[in-house]
Amino acid sequence: MKGFDNENVDLNVLKKKAFNYRWAEVEEGIIPLTSADPDYPCAPQIRKAMSDYIADGYFSYTPKLGLAEFRDAFSKRVYRRKGEVIDPDMVLPIDSAARGMYIIADAFLKPGDEMIVFDPCDYLFREACARSGATPVPCPVDLDMKNRKMDLSHLEECITPRTKMIGLCNPHNPYGLTYTYEELDQIMSLCEKYDLYIMNDEIWSDIIYPDAQFCSIYCLGNERCKRVLSVFGFSKSFGLAGLRIGCIYSTDKENFDRLVISSDVLSTAGGATSISQVAATAAMNEADDYLEGFLVHLKENRDHALERISSMPYLKAYKPMATYLLYVDIEETGMSGEEFTEFLKKEVQLALVPGGQKFFGDRSEGHIRICFATSRQILDEGLDRLERGLRILKEKKGS
Ligand SMILES: Cc1ncc(COP(=O)(O)O)c(C=O)c1O
Repeated sequence: MKGFDNENVDLNVLKKKAFNYRWAEVEEGIIPLTSADPDYPCAPQIRKAMSDYIADGYFSYTPKLGLAEFRDAFSKRVYRRKGEVIDPDMVLPIDSAARGMYIIADAFLKPGDEMIVFDPCDYLFREACARSGATPVPCPVDLDMKNRKMDLSHLEECITPRTKMIGLCNPHNPYGLTYTYEELDQIMSLCEKYDLYIMNDEIWSDIIYPDAQFCSIYCLGNERCKRVLSVFGFSKSFGLAGLRIGCIYSTDKENFDRLVISSDVLSTAGGATSISQVAATAAMNEADDYLEGFLVHLKENRDHALERISSMPYLKAYKPMATYLLYVDIEETGMSGEEFTEFLKKEVQLALVPGGQKFFGDRSEGHIRICFATSRQILDEGLDRLERGLRILKEKKGS
């Protein structure tokens, strides 16, 4: 796919700039298929918008609630792509999706409260809850491989009189699954029954493969979604992680005002930088073609990686319908996620994300996660190394 070839991956730059378990942080020679962050430069339209913006040399204060262009672009884009009807006045740009999650938790939770966090799921739900002083309560959500569904049957039994919020990662990281209308209705009905908020993270909602469909919780209607507090970010679809840009949004004015207060934008202590808002606005208004090309490339990488892994011993990979993450069962190796990833790093210079409590929760133990937002060549080199690692393991087990 043009724009996503190997020559578009500049390893010299990545080794200087890509941190958070990636090229700039691993030892020379290691391939990091780790954090969910593309190996490609961002869309040229985004670069152009940023360089146009810096040309006059002014970096004055922005409006406290963010640039009107950003808020408008977001409202139009979520309607165009996901059918969500969000008033631009209830969109707040913020310095990353992660920050958005912290703001939501801080605004609606207090010590003594509980938040249900799916296990497995991205650690940020747990961390955001814990930072507010509330208690994260893991809810086991296993994957029914055959039907490609999450088992939500334990959700209600995790609810106690202290429960105030449920974390919803849609699409789900690390399973790479979207929720059906029925599942979202089931979650919402419980929230209505027990009067709970929903922390709704749609950061992955652009990365959906043609064999899947994204259904936002807002498809249940804005009236029912007043209790939903949503977050989006620009790190995954547009490779803007270092700009720390995302936003929070709501369909309820009172709840939105609470988010604004908790975000500290009114005092200027919080908020997103002007240049980051400009970059994200260009991403939303002008980079659809980049995203479409990226998706074509990702689908090819996904299918290729799945095929290769299916012929490797000990491993079972789940097919993601969304995200550029492969969640792989390594139980048959007899190793924990940490042990296996350490083994791969040492033996074959490959870095992957281990399952387990730290990143995704206890139920992700016995799994690893592989990010495939890279070139086919680098992915293949990574998979060659994985295969080699498994061969070494097999020999060790045999001896
Ligand atoms: C589900 C989920 N939410 C939030 C984030 C954080 O995004 P950001 O870089 O905007 O903080 C990630 C990053 O991996 C993620 O997977």
